[in-house]
Amino acid sequence: MTHSNGLEQSLPLEFPYIDDVSQYERIDKIGQGTYGEVFKGRCRKTNEFVAIKLILMNQEKEGFPITALREIKILQGLRHDNIVRLIEMCRSTVEKSSRSKFYFIFEFCDHDLAGILRNVQVKFKLEHIKSIMQQLLYALYCIHTNHIIHRDIKPANILITRNGVLKLADFGLSKLITPPRLDQKNRHTYRVVTMWYRPPELLLGERDYGPAIDMWGVGCIFAEMWIRCPIMQGETEQHQLELISSLCGSIKPNVWPGVDSLPLYNKIKLPEGERRKVYDRMKPYIPESLALDLIDQLLILDPKQRINADNVLRSDFFYSDPPVIDLKELLSKYHSMFDLKETSRNVNHQRSKFPNLSCDPIY
Ligand SMILES: Nc1ncnc2c1ncn2[C@@H]1O[C@H](COP(=O)(O)OP(=O)(O)OP(=O)(O)O)[C@@H](O)[C@H]1O
Ligand SMILES: [Mg+2]
Repeated sequence: MTHSNGLEQSLPLEFPYIDDVSQYERIDKIGQGTYGEVFKGRCRKTNEFVAIKLILMNQEKEGFPITALREIKILQGLRHDNIVRLIEMCRSTVEKSSRSKFYFIFEFCDHDLAGILRNVQVKFKLEHIKSIMQQLLYALYCIHTNHIIHRDIKPANILITRNGVLKLADFGLSKLITPPRLDQKNRHTYRVVTMWYRPPELLLGERDYGPAIDMWGVGCIFAEMWIRCPIMQGETEQHQLELISSLCGSIKPNVWPGVDSLPLYNKIKLPEGERRKVYDRMKPYIPESLALDLIDQLLILDPKQRINADNVLRSDFFYSDPPVIDLKELLSKYHSMFDLKETSRNVNHQRSKFPNLSCDPIY
């Protein structure tokens, strides 16, 4: 035991209210995230499939990881069809001289959006894209009205069940925030969100941010539904800002009042003289003008001007023909991506190198 906490070493740890993970049969490894492994499992009593996410405790000297505690607290308080359901927490049997391992038990979803997007056989119709975006926005509307920001919006964290129900997942970075106040600034960390989906305010060191950071990710994913690969694949923060400027125009106080007071604004060399080209660049890929309008409003540099989930949901895009349809029929044609072996799925973050997809970012 590496614990420095004397109390824990001297008391045998028992967890009477938290079940043993052995009630779930482990079937296959389906994901390797930054903070733990994810397995497909089955409940021995009910035969129901589940996802079992191990909580990594390696680096923890101070006990249970705070990020996992946050994730539990937030997920326990959220009940929504489009948010992944946390069934329970489990532990492994406590053996002498070793620590228990802890697990999240989630409802199982057959697909994640990253897998669906890189599967060239999956052909979306406009009505499928509407359904995916609408369900994602329902989830975000729910969390944002509850003052929670997700802080890691990306296709790998968006799950879809075989019945076509989208579930926002991975609340490991999410946070309950206090609404912005004039007299006091929040000081959240700006090192959140996977870089390709990270908004310009975080890249410039903003610490008093809000739900708009998730909406930038929605804009990137919205475009990705047609383009089928991440639209801005930066290698460093500097590079990501260059790609953003090239697509959305130079980052200047005339389009984004107050940007010059962000901590990194004067420390990073930002491209000058770029004009905004969201429409021009995306038009060849995205024939739907109502969708282009929304993407344009989601990829607004200034977070205060960026459209929120409520207003996207009210837009004509979702109420014009063709109407939103159930995804069930589309997905029933494809096996769960988790039935493939892990190596052939190329788990997480490798999309741009996928050989059978001509995947040139459009920046
Ligand atoms: N309930 C679930 N059903 C099916 N697959 C799941 C489920 N939860 C997670 N996965 C799979 O496992 C992957 C990693 O899970 P998750 O994102 O929760 O972990 P993480 O460690 O926080 O990941 P990362 O750091 O990569 O974002 C997901 O991208 C998804 O492919
Ligand atoms: Mg994840």
